[in-house]
Amino acid sequence: MKTEIGTDLKKAIELLKTGELVTIPTETVYGLAANGTNELAVHKIFEVKGRPKTNPLILHFPNSDAILPYVQDFPEELQKLAKSFWPGPLTILLKKSELVSNLITAGHDRVAVRVPVHPVTLELLEQLPFPLAAPSANSYGKISPTKAEHVFNQLNGKIPYILDGGPCIKGLESTIIGLENNVMIIYRLGSISIEQIEQIIGYKPIIRLSSEETPLTSGMVKHHYAPITPLFFIDSINDIDKSDNSGFIFFQSDFIGVSNKIILSETGNLDEAAQNLYNALHLMDAMELNQIFIERFPACDIGRTINDRLVRATAKFEK
Ligand code: TXA
Ligand code: MG
Repeated sequence: MKTEIGTDLKKAIELLKTGELVTIPTETVYGLAANGTNELAVHKIFEVKGRPKTNPLILHFPNSDAILPYVQDFPEELQKLAKSFWPGPLTILLKKSELVSNLITAGHDRVAVRVPVHPVTLELLEQLPFPLAAPSANSYGKISPTKAEHVFNQLNGKIPYILDGGPCIKGLESTIIGLENNVMIIYRLGSISIEQIEQIIGYKPIIRLSSEETPLTSGMVKHHYAPITPLFFIDSINDIDKSDNSGFIFFQSDFIGVSNKIILSETGNLDEAAQNLYNALHLMDAMELNQIFIERFPACDIGRTINDRLVRATAKFEK
């Protein structure tokens, strides 16, 4: 299959209406989208990603009202969050209605829903008569794409169309939240920080990210979001191999004086660092290095989300 990259909304709409896959830009990462009400189309998502069917998908809608037929109820506490953060990088788990296939929820009784904020994708969702099921547009376990070219590098030949909406402005996946017995639980750290959520609900949500049993979300899997090149934290400077075949990713400044390096935010801005993180990993992964070293981030705001992704990405290479 020939994979085309373009900005033709009409073409994207036609393909999606005929059950084909299109990758879409969002403010977080690019999504691998299909008609969420067409099981055959949704099946293709799992095939192309190589993703186990036990891992459920997020449904994307143009606005809150469009979600209502697909859920049984929308508790007030969660509506408050939706009003504060939608359109935007928050995913909410709600009891599904019979309109949502078990393939989307992997048999769970809740469905993950989100209203993204990217103008191209909002326009697309407004013109479609169905929601879009869309996981991040990477192969399973790999780094999420934040540019059309990242999608092309991973999915070339497997999908017909990449809708190019430029680089993703947030650069990290959405925060996933839901209520259990009236208590707010965060299942995946994301582009909306814990601090932002606490400000709206008035208390600290419970954070339940990793699970010993079957993980509820792929973000809970220990090894995930990983480059091909072994990735390590810069913990002890003495252990670091500073040879030409190592790459370095720093938050704000190069404090050990090396050549293959990327600085994520010269001004020390965590949001900017988040926006650049996956691109830096994609770039370094293409350099055929022996290993990549990365700094740990300050454990506040979006720095917590960055550290979460890096812990999962480095876990694969733990010695
Ligand atoms: O920012 C994002 O959320 C991006 C963009 C494309 O919207 N999407 C994304 O999708 O990150 P994905 O599939 O890569 O990650 C979604 C996570 C998965 O870990 C999945 O297990 C979890 O959401 N999830 C989806 N439906 C769920 C459900 N019903 N219950 C629990 N977790 C769910
Ligand atoms: Mg993903």
